[in-house]
Amino acid sequence: MRNLKITDQQIYKLIEKETERQQQVLEMIPSENYASPAVLEALGTSLNNKYSEGYPKKRYYQGNRYIDSVEILAEERAKKLFDVPFANVQPYSGSPANLAVYFALLEPLKDKIMGLSLAFGGHLTHGAQVSISGKYFKTAEYSLSPDGFLDYSAIKKIAMREKPKIIVCGATAYPRIIDFKKFAEIAKAVNAYLLADISHIAGLVVGGVHPSPVPYADIIMTTTHKTLRGPRGAIIMVTKKGLNKDEDLPGKIDKAVFPGLQGGPHDNQTAAIAVALKEAGGAMFRRYAKQIVVNSRALAPELKNYDFDLISGGSDNHLILIDLTNKKINGAQAAYALEIAGVVVNKNAVPNDPMPPFYPSGIRLGTPAITTRGMREREMKKIAFWINQVINEVSGTKLPKDKEERKKSWVTFKEKTAKNENLLLIAKEVKNFTKKFPIY
Ligand SMILES: Cc1ncc(COP(=O)(O)O)c(C=O)c1O
Repeated sequence: MRNLKITDQQIYKLIEKETERQQQVLEMIPSENYASPAVLEALGTSLNNKYSEGYPKKRYYQGNRYIDSVEILAEERAKKLFDVPFANVQPYSGSPANLAVYFALLEPLKDKIMGLSLAFGGHLTHGAQVSISGKYFKTAEYSLSPDGFLDYSAIKKIAMREKPKIIVCGATAYPRIIDFKKFAEIAKAVNAYLLADISHIAGLVVGGVHPSPVPYADIIMTTTHKTLRGPRGAIIMVTKKGLNKDEDLPGKIDKAVFPGLQGGPHDNQTAAIAVALKEAGGAMFRRYAKQIVVNSRALAPELKNYDFDLISGGSDNHLILIDLTNKKINGAQAAYALEIAGVVVNKNAVPNDPMPPFYPSGIRLGTPAITTRGMREREMKKIAFWINQVINEVSGTKLPKDKEERKKSWVTFKEKTAKNENLLLIAKEVKNFTKKFPIY
């Protein structure tokens, strides 16, 4: 950042501080990761300067000789890595990518999307009412059974009743394996397209530690910045099954992304996606993906030993969802206290959460980023120990139910917690500990 240091001290310093923060804490938000230096390099290149509306060899601007090659490489690498016949690598991110799929296949205000409810771990773009996906299309939702698992026979019943045109499987806060085959059977029974949104688990799928949706889904969407460990972005893929169902699917998806929803692709991002896909095809990445799951499976029982109530009782993938009701605090309080102590997680609703979204009952944490740093089972033990210490510090301070009272207590809680010496001491220990695991 030599130039930035000279031209813009303010931004330079903030970037430096953010990098330092990322180094000194345990980043355990399951949708985050550390992209490699090569991925970051590709992002900060002259490719940022180019306009290339259209697709390779069919552009609306001159000068795309090299950009065409970059985009073709990214597409080819995606197709090879996931074993699919078609990939569009232009979506700016996961939300517009899901919208593009809907735009390609659904008639607004008429056709129906059926996805996992936001309150049970689905994503906003799976038909939540606050999102354009829920406002512009009809929706139906499924939830989880009381044990925290997907209940496929209940999902089938809803599908038979609601007759959706697209069924979305995939989640943002589901700690278990998704049975794509069962979803495919349900989709077939109601003649719906099956969209597998594997944004969270794409790295696990290509690493061979989560079953692939490729034999079962018609369309697959993934973000590129979570377990896949690339730049921010997304890929929409069509499977052989999807092609058999509708040979125009690739054309429809392409048209929906551009000119339907987006203008010029972010070519620097496309190059960085290509770099990440090459990395994800290597043996080291397979080991990485395996270790993500090993770490999550090691962390879960450690937390249970400290009497943490894990939704579904454990984890099969990269994330863990904790209901903090028995600890007498909410997720906002826990996440805040944990950050003071150097452990970064996010507050999260739990199934059938009686609390409002801003003060949900749970937290969501995961192992992708700390595994990138080289942490293993031994470190999970230590992390569980710290998490328990932090929660013990604030346990029993549950905020009042009354809205106004709660607002006031929240401010007091934050002031007090920020000065808690035991938490600050843990932050120091964490900072020391993380020195052994440099991020760059
Ligand atoms: C399952 C799922 N789909 C889609 C998205 C949207 O991705 P983005 O934040 O890149 O728009 C997310 C992001 O959290 C997600 O978890």
